[in-house]
Amino acid sequence: MEYLTLTGGAQIPQLGLGTFKLQGSSGVRAVKSALQMGYRHLDTAAMYGNHKEVGEALQESDVDRSDVWITSKVWRDSLQHDAVLRECDQALAELGTDYLDLYLIHWPNEDIPLADTLKAFGRLLSEGKIRNAGVANFTVARLKRALSVAEFPLAMNQVEYHPYLNQEHLLTFCQENEIGVTAYCPIARGDVITDPIFQNIAQTHGKTPTQVTLRWLLQKGIVAIPKSGNPDRQRENFEVFGWELNTEEMAQINTIEKQNRLLDLPAAAFWEDE
Ligand SMILES: NC(=O)c1ccc[n+]([C@@H]2O[C@H](COP(=O)([O-])OP(=O)(O)OC[C@H]3O[C@@H](n4cnc5c(N)ncnc54)[C@H](OP(=O)(O)O)[C@@H]3O)[C@@H](O)[C@H]2O)c1
Repeated sequence: MEYLTLTGGAQIPQLGLGTFKLQGSSGVRAVKSALQMGYRHLDTAAMYGNHKEVGEALQESDVDRSDVWITSKVWRDSLQHDAVLRECDQALAELGTDYLDLYLIHWPNEDIPLADTLKAFGRLLSEGKIRNAGVANFTVARLKRALSVAEFPLAMNQVEYHPYLNQEHLLTFCQENEIGVTAYCPIARGDVITDPIFQNIAQTHGKTPTQVTLRWLLQKGIVAIPKSGNPDRQRENFEVFGWELNTEEMAQINTIEKQNRLLDLPAAAFWEDE
């Protein structure tokens, strides 16, 4: 495993399991299988409706809570100060844990003052209910606003990031301000598999296009959270350590110009500057 050191010193495993759509007994089985093969970072959210499944999988596994990084997120309709506190308590109860490693604003909401939300995050940090706090789907303009009101370091911005949405400008801003970046939809929901650029590089290394894509993200200093409910594909996504893409291969992927955003909710988070 490789780790990214966050502002404040915490080390987040750079590869995690996305859990969107992992629900019910098959969801529990999928999370357990990932833990068994070595995943130590689980990405969940209130909106995914699977805190209980993630918690159950962890409790039924042989892995200690303290050895697993858990990220959860509060949805955009619950960003009022007291709602955040309530939602976090509910997440902890459902997950069966007394702290989250990272808690994120899942999606911005212009109708609720950011300062109120961040104040609640500050309280959760001081109470030890969350160990790191951050945001998701924030543009540079929105991050600047968050940085100007947050009374704690923003540890993370989780955004859509893959070779067809290579947000270099946002990545640079985050890195300059010591905000970690997590890539969601890191394999563009499978779109990379049939791309000749990735097939060619993959062949050189005896790897798969998915593995090349994840390796590219890791080498850019990004955390990646591919979702798979299938043990074979979980394993494939996990075998991205102990080998490297060279400078030319990194450059070739960096220069793909396609800008294909897979997620753009009607609550338009991205109109303002990227
Ligand atoms: N913060 C946010 O707003 C936000 C938004 C979206 C997602 N996320 C997080 O990011 C995670 C990942 O994003 P995502 O699930 O949207 O997209 P993704 O990880 O890019 O792709 C997941 C899809 O690809 C398939 N897949 C996984 N590994 C594969 C492989 N090796 N070969 C072929 N197909 C493969 C999965 O199917 P199988 O399960 O059948 O393998 C699934 O259909 C989510 O689960 C969630 O935790 C966060």
